[in-house]
Amino acid sequence: MNQEIEMFSNALGKFQLQRLPLQKKQTLRAWDAADEYLLNYLRQTNALKAESKLLIINDQFGALATSLHQYTLQTWSDSYINQRSTSHNLKINHLDSALEYVPSTETPTGIFDIVLIKIPKTSALLEHQLIKLRPLIDSHTLIISSAMTRHIHSATLQLFEKILGTTTTSLAKKKARLIFTQHEKISAEVNSPYPKDYHVKSLGIHLSNHANVFSKDKLDYATLLMLDQFKKLPTAKHIVDLGCGNGVLGIIAQRYQEESNVNFLDESYMAVASAKMNYEKIYKHKSEANFLVSDCLDQFPHSNINLILCNPPFHQQHSIGDQTAWKMFTQSFKKLKKGGALWIVGNRHLQYSAKLKKIFGNSKIIAANDKFQVISAVRKG
Ligand SMILES: C[S@@+](CC[C@H](N)C(=O)[O-])C[C@H]1O[C@@H](n2cnc3c(N)ncnc32)[C@H](O)[C@@H]1O
Repeated sequence: MNQEIEMFSNALGKFQLQRLPLQKKQTLRAWDAADEYLLNYLRQTNALKAESKLLIINDQFGALATSLHQYTLQTWSDSYINQRSTSHNLKINHLDSALEYVPSTETPTGIFDIVLIKIPKTSALLEHQLIKLRPLIDSHTLIISSAMTRHIHSATLQLFEKILGTTTTSLAKKKARLIFTQHEKISAEVNSPYPKDYHVKSLGIHLSNHANVFSKDKLDYATLLMLDQFKKLPTAKHIVDLGCGNGVLGIIAQRYQEESNVNFLDESYMAVASAKMNYEKIYKHKSEANFLVSDCLDQFPHSNINLILCNPPFHQQHSIGDQTAWKMFTQSFKKLKKGGALWIVGNRHLQYSAKLKKIFGNSKIIAANDKFQVISAVRKG
């Protein structure tokens, strides 16, 4: 797909960058002023040495990794799309890099000289990452975080202070700020509180949730409304829980349809790991379920699906929009077998019913309350 390539200029060079997934009309850039501030600071302070070992955490579309490609790099994040964007951006710049990509469910191998952190949307993820970071650094490690000022709260700074040590911030530039942290709490051992569990009385199950999982403290109201309709689900041999989070939709669908093969897909490593952990705890004897980290249905190889269940996301990282929902709906139409159905739940104001009608030629409201609608659409042709 033709998407304009924008040029990211910073003190380390000029790089072509794109956001994945590629879109004809992309209005957002693949970097922000916080990336630029951080890279310029590293160059101005001569912090980078040829032999420096770097860890980059939550680099959104690879703006940091691409600019720092010549160093020994590990990049650590919960997003498969971030990983793919980084590879894509290195490729379009024809850059070779010995970069090692570490999913959030694994641990990088330290000790690092420099750790660069982009502040994530979820503070639980930051908390988990800072705790896991402690054995990977020492008192000489330079730890610099960056974010747009609107994403830095006093609770963010308190987390750094509590887990790592003294934390200060820079002046704001182009509405971005840097956060400097000294690692002082080297000896005291701290364990991550994640994954966290809760009990869902109405379903009679316990759900475990890694730090970055949607609904990590309690089930979402939209999800609950959809689950209430599951006795009306059409019988399906192959089911996909698309954007599975902790896997609750697929897990309960399996309860109604014991013979079905359920596939759990999400672009978050922590979501897929949580869904797997929950499914295996509940269905100890079953082994047919599949768990896949995927951007929507991109990595799912089959087109034999009879039923797709989806509570679509309404943001990608810090930006809000329905592009991912659109992609999920259009791909669902292509991947469903004739007669197969997509069931979704969404906020009424998002008007998903009209969107599904455009793609499928039909849509039906299964249930609604004052805030959400459960809607189905069937692939007829
Ligand atoms: C609103 S949550 C729903 C989670 C779960 N199904 C539930 O109802 O509790 C949306 C999920 O979509 C996932 N997601 C976001 N973008 C995605 C993408 N491009 N491909 C696959 N999953 C994605 C998010 O990680 C999140 O788990």
